[in-house]
Amino acid sequence: MRGEVIFYLNGERKQVSGAFVFEPLSSYLRYEAGLTGTKLVCEEGDCGACTILIGRPGNGRLKYRAINSCIFTLYQADATHVVTVEGLAAGGLHPVQEAMVRCHGAQCGFCTPGFVMAMAGLCEQKKDAMAAERLSSAELRRGLTGNLCRCTGYAPIIEAGQSIDPGQVPALCQLFPEEEMAPALELLSRDALSITHQEKRLDRPADLETAMNCLVQGAVIVNGATDLGVQQNKGRREINWHLSLGCLSELQGVSVQDGVIDAGGLSTWTDMEEVLGGRGEFAGILSVFASPQIKNAGGMAGNIINGSPIADSLPYLMVSDAVLLLASPQGRRELPIRELYRGYKDLDLKKGEILLRIRIPLLADGLLGLYKVSRRRDLDISSFTAAIYVRLDGQTITEARVSLGGVAPVVARQENVERFLAGKPFQRETFLLAGDLAARSIQPLSDVRGSREYRLMLARNTFLRFYLEKSSNASVLQSVR
Ligand SMILES: Cc1cc2nc3c(=O)[nH]c(=O)nc-3n(C[C@H](O)[C@H](O)[C@H](O)COP(=O)(O)OP(=O)(O)OC[C@H]3O[C@@H](n4cnc5c(N)ncnc54)[C@H](O)[C@@H]3O)c2cc1C
Ligand code: FES
Ligand code: FES
Repeated sequence: MRGEVIFYLNGERKQVSGAFVFEPLSSYLRYEAGLTGTKLVCEEGDCGACTILIGRPGNGRLKYRAINSCIFTLYQADATHVVTVEGLAAGGLHPVQEAMVRCHGAQCGFCTPGFVMAMAGLCEQKKDAMAAERLSSAELRRGLTGNLCRCTGYAPIIEAGQSIDPGQVPALCQLFPEEEMAPALELLSRDALSITHQEKRLDRPADLETAMNCLVQGAVIVNGATDLGVQQNKGRREINWHLSLGCLSELQGVSVQDGVIDAGGLSTWTDMEEVLGGRGEFAGILSVFASPQIKNAGGMAGNIINGSPIADSLPYLMVSDAVLLLASPQGRRELPIRELYRGYKDLDLKKGEILLRIRIPLLADGLLGLYKVSRRRDLDISSFTAAIYVRLDGQTITEARVSLGGVAPVVARQENVERFLAGKPFQRETFLLAGDLAARSIQPLSDVRGSREYRLMLARNTFLRFYLEKSSNASVLQSVR
């Protein structure tokens, strides 16, 4: 059992115990390591000023991803290699930094280290994929959605990214040789951890039984901390006993097999995107989900258990009839996600229960539409979400599944609308009536993201939108996931 956090910082091995173990990684970097290039602005994962790269070990290599260090607790960096803007520039300006200077990509410069780190992460991903071409404007816009700049304007920043010659960019394994570091980190990642400091405690048990016992006694599971980190930073939640499930093989991996996505509770949204490979409606929702930094840390298990009525994955999981594999001291069970939510943030979970895996049957033989409506396209919380799935026999709807989010305390299936649609002709009139019925069946609230009337209108119009989008290919009944 290890009693301290061990990681590498810009190639140097660090051992940390005491208060910093429970602090945001950004605090350690700035106030203990003196690496003040990592900036702090929002402290809630929204602006990207605190972006750093985390190298996670696997197969003798390190895979680097950008994350927000302000909501990432230091112990989450255990058994990783942390690279900050100082590390990137250790041997002189990095090509990404040179490009930002050349293209006038910075004015006050406060956001610049975050942009540099996010862009360096994109270059590294290209190298991982053995792709030799330059970063495209679309790749840069997508890859930088988690970084805000208030004074330069984005055009020179995108121009800087496009001007980088990939041949000139050293891979991070050239800057920080990984022959020794990667196997050392891989070994460390298997260590169980138990660290205490005053009233704070962290456990990363080696087996499921110990993890469940910690939970029963009051520990709180922390996975990516993209929900919990914000709640802690903003004083909405204090966690004294942190439980990391990082050593448990039962929660690892994500794959698609025999028409089912099988996602372990530890898998991140980025892992999910890699498995989906950009195909299908759910990949479309993930493309407007948070930012790369958030998706590199957070995952589906946290989205499900956090139980927000506007969690973006839930409508899809509801219409897919996803099944949750849960484990508690009373044993394992499978629970259809439709039965999980009893009320606002009130979940049908037993004491000490852990979400091990999520099994999502692919919807291969019908028409699926997934919708997220938010005030801004990127990095915004939804005002309204929806999933509509129909199967057809000729022009007749044989089965319908509908789920709406943002219109009630929980995301749920709209069974009366489903019953209405079944057996009806696949035509405009049917979906106009279905939209009216849906709007009559919900009681949305007004809040900062939209009025009650606006949400009612969205619920009504989404059915027509679905029909208009799908009617062109419904006649040939193409396979749509
Ligand atoms: C800037 C920003 C943008 C965001 N954008 C979006 C967005 O576009 N759409 C969206 O839906 N969400 C968004 N989120 C919310 C968040 O990123 C997601 O809900 C994410 O999926 C949470 O995963 P996590 O691993 O970080 O969860 P954590 O914060 O680690 O945990 C969340 C909850 O789940 C519990 N938990 C985690 N894993 C398990 C498990 N295996 N078993 C039992 N309980 C578990 C934790 O105890 C906690 O209660 C955003 C958050 C931020 C900060
Ligand atoms: S300080 Fe804004 S994302 Fe971390
Ligand atoms: S350069 Fe000032 S905020 Fe971006």
